[in-house]
Amino acid sequence: MEHKYKDIQGWFNMEKQYMYLLKNTPENGTFVELGTWKGRSTTFLVTEMINQKRSIDFYAVDLFENDPNISDKKEIDAYGKTFSILEEYIKNTKHISEYYTTIVSNSSEAANKFKDNSVDTIFIDAGHTYNAVKSDIVSWLPKIKIGGIIAGHDYRKSWKNDVIKAVNEILGTPDFVENGCWFIKKK
Ligand SMILES: C[S@@+](CC[C@H](N)C(=O)[O-])C[C@H]1O[C@@H](n2cnc3c(N)ncnc32)[C@H](O)[C@@H]1O
Repeated sequence: MEHKYKDIQGWFNMEKQYMYLLKNTPENGTFVELGTWKGRSTTFLVTEMINQKRSIDFYAVDLFENDPNISDKKEIDAYGKTFSILEEYIKNTKHISEYYTTIVSNSSEAANKFKDNSVDTIFIDAGHTYNAVKSDIVSWLPKIKIGGIIAGHDYRKSWKNDVIKAVNEILGTPDFVENGCWFIKKK
């Protein structure tokens, strides 16, 4: 299948890092992505799953709206009006929709849909405030298998150190950081 993600608006430029996550997710494993926006990153990953003939339960989680309780002003400004985000997402991902599951939910609350020790890989790229990242990590950590990968985006100073602070405080220094993405294997 031809890649179409470059036609979709978004922040995703982590092809190499997503390839690493896909490669390290076992066959018939579970991969969760928190934060898909208009589907750019999701489209890349799912297209690779199809092309590599990988059998993985992939879930993309997003509210597809601005929730004033979870997003600070900077985030609302960054995402703009979101009333049509879900519509755009559905349109953008129509060609791959049968290969994965979309969960319209708050990213932390979505963890309740999963059993403990059931997720092999998670990529956290939803809310970027300290509280949002902390809440996502704390909610999802029990869901990740021992040996699974917990990773995320924007481990950089541009987000007021919020992501760095939340990750370091709860999980410790990442195993490695690459292209703004942090990676930790659950022990
Ligand atoms: C940086 S964007 C994701 C970028 C996307 N992966 C891409 O390819 O461009 C962050 C997304 O997280 C969503 N988001 C922020 N806080 C959230 C929350 N608490 N629950 C669910 N989604 C949230 C926003 O709606 C937005 O779509």
